[in-house]
Amino acid sequence: MTTPHTPLTQDALKTLVGRAALHYVEDGSIVGVGTGSTVNQFIDALAGLKERIRGAVSSSEASTQRLRALGIPVLEAGEVRSLPVYIDGADEIDERGYMVKGGGAALTREKIVAALAERFVCIADESKLVKALGAFPLPVEVIPMAAAQITRRFGQLGGAAQLRLKDGQPLVTDNGQHILDVTGLVITDPLAFESEVNQWPGVVTVGVFAHQKASVCLLGTAQGVRTLA
Ligand code: 5RP
Repeated sequence: MTTPHTPLTQDALKTLVGRAALHYVEDGSIVGVGTGSTVNQFIDALAGLKERIRGAVSSSEASTQRLRALGIPVLEAGEVRSLPVYIDGADEIDERGYMVKGGGAALTREKIVAALAERFVCIADESKLVKALGAFPLPVEVIPMAAAQITRRFGQLGGAAQLRLKDGQPLVTDNGQHILDVTGLVITDPLAFESEVNQWPGVVTVGVFAHQKASVCLLGTAQGVRTLA
């Protein structure tokens, strides 16, 4: 008789990849840490080996609080010249390692910390793997006074931008800016798209991570962790 197979929940898959990412943490190093529910699983796992690392550079106030609560020292990004690894989640990732990020509104600091790292390890459950980026509403951090004109520019590309709200008010990021979530885009050339949108006046950061794509992705699947490299 075979034992019925209970599928792993999305949370269990996040725990699985959060723990698997420990494999990429070097002894004595400072670790770049992203933001989100998958990264929270990584942070919890990292606490188990905090004596072996020097600390972390964090991509959000939320991750900083969680790291510090677990006794992991947090350094400012300006205190380090480079990091061996940056570990973060994604809202979408394709087979090439191009991602959409920013569902947690931390995309700007995520790009800044990722840019310090030699390697970007993306951790995600298998629902995040897509053939083409664009189904998840694309987060774009903007200077509030430019939001209306950026909305019109996305309209010209066939996209509909919506101001992200929190408790009925515009969400304010850790950098004091707003987020537009853009639907209706199909991003066939992520490198060109990221370069183009990033130079629109008032765009702080577009949530396409193509110039800083994942070096490795640990994807949580029903069969275990699948590594895309
Ligand atoms: C936050 C992010 C997150 O990495 C992304 O939203 C995925 O989050 P989660 O692990 O909760 O699904 O980009 O700005």
